[in-house]
Amino acid sequence: MDKLIITGGTQLSGELRIAGAKNAALPILAAALLSEEPVTIGNIPHLHDITTTMQLLGQMGVRLTIDEKMNIEVDCCEINKFEAPYELVKTMRASILVLGPLLARYGQACVSLPGGCAIGTRPVDIHLDALLKMGAEIKVEGGYIHAKASRLKGCKLVLEKVTVTGTENLLMAAVLAEGTTIIENAAKEPEVSDLAHFLNAMGAKITGIDTGVLVIEGVEKLGKKDLYYKILPDRIETGTYLVAAAITRGKIKVKDVRPATLDAVLDKLTEAGAEITIGEDWIELDMHGRRPKAVNIRTAPYPAFPTDMQAQFTAMNAVADGVGVITETVFENRFMHVQEMQRMGANIQLESNTAICTGQKKLTGAPVMATDLRASASLVLAGLVAEGDTLVDRIYHIDRGYDHIEEKLAQMGATIRRIPR
Ligand code: UD1
Repeated sequence: MDKLIITGGTQLSGELRIAGAKNAALPILAAALLSEEPVTIGNIPHLHDITTTMQLLGQMGVRLTIDEKMNIEVDCCEINKFEAPYELVKTMRASILVLGPLLARYGQACVSLPGGCAIGTRPVDIHLDALLKMGAEIKVEGGYIHAKASRLKGCKLVLEKVTVTGTENLLMAAVLAEGTTIIENAAKEPEVSDLAHFLNAMGAKITGIDTGVLVIEGVEKLGKKDLYYKILPDRIETGTYLVAAAITRGKIKVKDVRPATLDAVLDKLTEAGAEITIGEDWIELDMHGRRPKAVNIRTAPYPAFPTDMQAQFTAMNAVADGVGVITETVFENRFMHVQEMQRMGANIQLESNTAICTGQKKLTGAPVMATDLRASASLVLAGLVAEGDTLVDRIYHIDRGYDHIEEKLAQMGATIRRIPR
């Protein structure tokens, strides 16, 4: 397994381009299953999860053509298998996103149940209950969800909890259903909206985008000749690099971003003492060489503070001035990075879903192990500011969600390199 070795102590400075959003690319690639015409999706990030999605679609008979600019043409005219096998789902839970479109367009789907996960139980009961309500027949057998429907029927769905992939699966199911579907308590994440815009570009009729109530009038078929759709920028990648700059007391400018999707994160960085300047598609952060101040954070669905930025802010609080309290409300077990940070000298106390961080003047480099995607990123951030060398193991988690992380950090002056296995 590859590892990253980071020698801490450099203030980051420079400019950086942000990639397309992983969490928009995955549902949008799955939504291409709904199109009668080939469709081209642009600004696809260079990530393992994208490779997995391509494998997933490829084994169904979908033809995928990728060019050097990471535009992917998806052609579903020869699809002959309606399955998401365990081997792929176990490496990427978002594979569940093919359930809605397969069922809506082809009337059948056989999708492995995602198992447990490092950050919590993550069930898919809300996806399944809603599909049942839309008239699907669902059986769970041998670890697989077997779903069938002649044509799904629109209805009113009130989601018990805000779920991002749940809302996306149901949107993709509803666009071809008979009649109108109303999804209440829908997720408002920008990636959900990006998917909705893509579906509308293919001919779907979705209103209420960006709100908690999505109204979908079902249509007979989807697809538009020569459709090209560009994925929105990755707000979590953007936030991660801004924290990297803040933690090292540096100054960076991130480009090709959508600043409005980062309000909660930028507010907290400002509170931590960063000077933030925003342009139409760029953000500049300047710490003026100062140590960040500790901040209190409570994660919750968008537009509140994202759980996917929690670990990175824990790393910042670990070296900040003062005491910061971090409360995780979305996933029950998302503090696996804390023990690793403690091994680097962080003073963090865990009390159920709360981490109380007393900022230390310094951390010391250590061998650490990544347990999930964002936790891995937070260990890299801690390594950037620790004294000496930090060796981050199991970085396949990072490669799932960060496009060329070591190159991007090195470009801004970090001492970081990959050690191939
Ligand atoms: C998505 C994101 C992930 C992010 C998360 C929360 C993708 C590919 N992944 O994950 O990066 O951390 O949103 O913003 O977009 N739940 C249920 N039953 C369900 C579905 C969810 O109880 O049927 C619970 C989950 O266990 C969790 C909460 O709802 O506690 C939110 O999960 P959800 O929004 O579904 O997360 P994902 O869509 O898996």
